[in-house]
Amino acid sequence: MAGQSTIISEEAVLGAMRGVIDPELGDDLVDLGMYLGCEIAADGSVTVKVALTTAGCPLRAQLQRDVTERVGSIPGITSVHVLTSEMSAGQKKELMARARRRAQDHPPATEIPGRTRVLAISSGKGGVGKSSVTVNLAAGLAARGLTVGLLDADIAGFSVPRMLGMEGRLEASKANSGDQARIEPMTKVVGPGLIKVVSMGFLSPEDEAIMWRGLMLLRGVQHFLEEVAWGDLDYLLVDMPPGTGDVQMGLARMLPRAEMLIVTTPALAAQKVAVRAADMARKGYLRVAGVIENMSGFTCDHGEHYELFGAGGGERLAHQIGAPLLARIPIEPAVSIGGDRGEPAALHGGEAGRVFAALVDAVLEVAPLVEMQGCTARMLDAVEAAVAKQA
Ligand SMILES: Nc1ncnc2c1ncn2[C@@H]1O[C@H](COP(=O)(O)OP(=O)(O)OP(=O)(O)O)[C@@H](O)[C@H]1O
Ligand SMILES: [Mg+2]
Repeated sequence: MAGQSTIISEEAVLGAMRGVIDPELGDDLVDLGMYLGCEIAADGSVTVKVALTTAGCPLRAQLQRDVTERVGSIPGITSVHVLTSEMSAGQKKELMARARRRAQDHPPATEIPGRTRVLAISSGKGGVGKSSVTVNLAAGLAARGLTVGLLDADIAGFSVPRMLGMEGRLEASKANSGDQARIEPMTKVVGPGLIKVVSMGFLSPEDEAIMWRGLMLLRGVQHFLEEVAWGDLDYLLVDMPPGTGDVQMGLARMLPRAEMLIVTTPALAAQKVAVRAADMARKGYLRVAGVIENMSGFTCDHGEHYELFGAGGGERLAHQIGAPLLARIPIEPAVSIGGDRGEPAALHGGEAGRVFAALVDAVLEVAPLVEMQGCTARMLDAVEAAVAKQA
């Protein structure tokens, strides 16, 4: 945690609150008018005031947790207290009207459902295994029956199609999206689950030329976010390009609810660069949900263990940025061979399969599925009906 000298601004809290989405209304608490302000004490403790539609809303615990985590990740904040109040019938009516107006005036820029957890897999340095981690995590989550979107944001150096053994061309269709044609993601069935992928690797050379006309990588990512008919998703994983550039800041702006998973190697040098990636995330008020150490030593067939890239970098980074270390993935030939063959090692047992299964567990823990049961749109209709009756 940063020292006393850090000045926490209300603006930083507001920025963090823009990352908290009401999964049902599909908008952030600031725009919905559910964020009522905050009080910041000299010791770094913050009280955040939030108005809820119903005190008994099952999403209440979820929203409280999200607020605590988002605001708590602002450097200098020592504790977060969420003060909730219940909206009056009039306020509820106003909220519904506002949500409806917003939906009409500003159709959401992306088709990513409000309940989808967005995780961007990032690193400071290139080549540390972001794409390998992303495809194996996607495969592992899908193997548990989940629907996982995978956006390959590495426009210039895409590798996801090869790693998942997928080929083909993205096509636009009007089927599920009314008048406007939308890009249909490529899909891969994994056991009871599904991965939906978009990548530059699925564009024809002509399409690619059109995408490159602007020659702005960020535009490519924006295009994928806005024009793709994602449909229902439990998770959206974003395989980030190396470095801490425009795409990182752009993603924070386009998808403030994204959370970061930072991949690093055990080397001290890599850890230092990774801190920069975490700082970047924070500047965009994104939460770092966890750290993943990759290439953590190699055990040969004779059982001898070699720490080829040093040791301890993941733990140090996690400690430094105050995020949990979710996994230490060893150097396993199965990971690189699986990547080359398009068969993620996560699906093939062995040591790699075990390590990735543990990573999936850890991710489900730090960024749990958003449960909407018991708080469906129908219930909101009921709220509206009740409000109408009172009015
Ligand atoms: N745990 C591992 N064991 C063995 N090989 C690995 C492991 N992780 C990654 N690799 C290999 O290391 C290389 C780099 O991995 P990958 O492409 O996933 O990194 P990246 O961070 O996405 O790179 P870039 O910054 O270029 O996007 C690949 O050849 C991959 O197969
Ligand atoms: Mg990559």
